[in-house]
Amino acid sequence: MVELLLPKNSKVKNGKNFKSKGNNKNRKKFLIYRYDPDSNDNPRVDNYDLDISNSGPMVLDALISIKNKLDPTLTFRRSCREGVCGSCAMNIDGTNTLACTKYISDVKGPIKVYPLPHMPVIKDLVPDLKGIYKQYNSIEPWLKTKTANNEDRERIQSPKDREDLDGLYECIMCFCCSTSCPSYWWNGDKYLGPAVLLQAWRWIADSRDEASEERLEKLQDSFKLYRCHTIMNCTKTCPKGLNPAKAISNIKKKILARN
Ligand code: SF4
Ligand code: SF4
Ligand code: FES
Repeated sequence: MVELLLPKNSKVKNGKNFKSKGNNKNRKKFLIYRYDPDSNDNPRVDNYDLDISNSGPMVLDALISIKNKLDPTLTFRRSCREGVCGSCAMNIDGTNTLACTKYISDVKGPIKVYPLPHMPVIKDLVPDLKGIYKQYNSIEPWLKTKTANNEDRERIQSPKDREDLDGLYECIMCFCCSTSCPSYWWNGDKYLGPAVLLQAWRWIADSRDEASEERLEKLQDSFKLYRCHTIMNCTKTCPKGLNPAKAISNIKKKILARN
């Protein structure tokens, strides 16, 4: 039997304990993954016991309280705190989601907070997204046209054609879906994954784009597209309620129709 073991320096150890002062009735424990690239130490899980009486209701509010009151070294990304920038994506209570839209009260017991899975970690809860952005760039995510636009105005679209982009344009590139996809875990260097493929479909489906043929040609690849085995983790986890698995299936159907 094959035995898979983590290298010694990857094993996650128990970390430090922190406790905030204040109300003893309204407290919550947070078990947070920590990794410091400047030390030779293994990653660890620190335990923060926080009085949440004066913190906002979301996990992101608690992380900000922890950083402000207990441990300024805790590192995470956030910007909009409204579920529109995608930067606070992380694994909370075993599910990839946005810290700013996840209620503390939705989790019973201690809240486990880890970075998005199967990505290199820069520090603590900050994943390295360089690779996935390179893949995003590879699908050329912009409107491509060949014909001249004779009208002295932007290229227009009928309301019906515009509706075809519903469920696509709302994607905030948080990558919760790609990092929950087993196919992406194992072949993330070659398989584009659900987030990038949903974006690819967003341009193919755009009635104004005139490069669908080239786009489909480039995607017709056993690794880039066909590593999707319709496991549906992506759709289940998307915090914006989008359906990347459907977008992938639309690309496959379109390729089938042209062959
Ligand atoms: S449906 Fe495809 S993209 Fe989505 S999780 Fe499954 S394999 Fe990954
Ligand atoms: S499809 Fe959903 S989970 Fe995936 S990147 Fe877009 S918003 Fe995030
Ligand atoms: S901070 Fe922007 S999505 Fe959470």
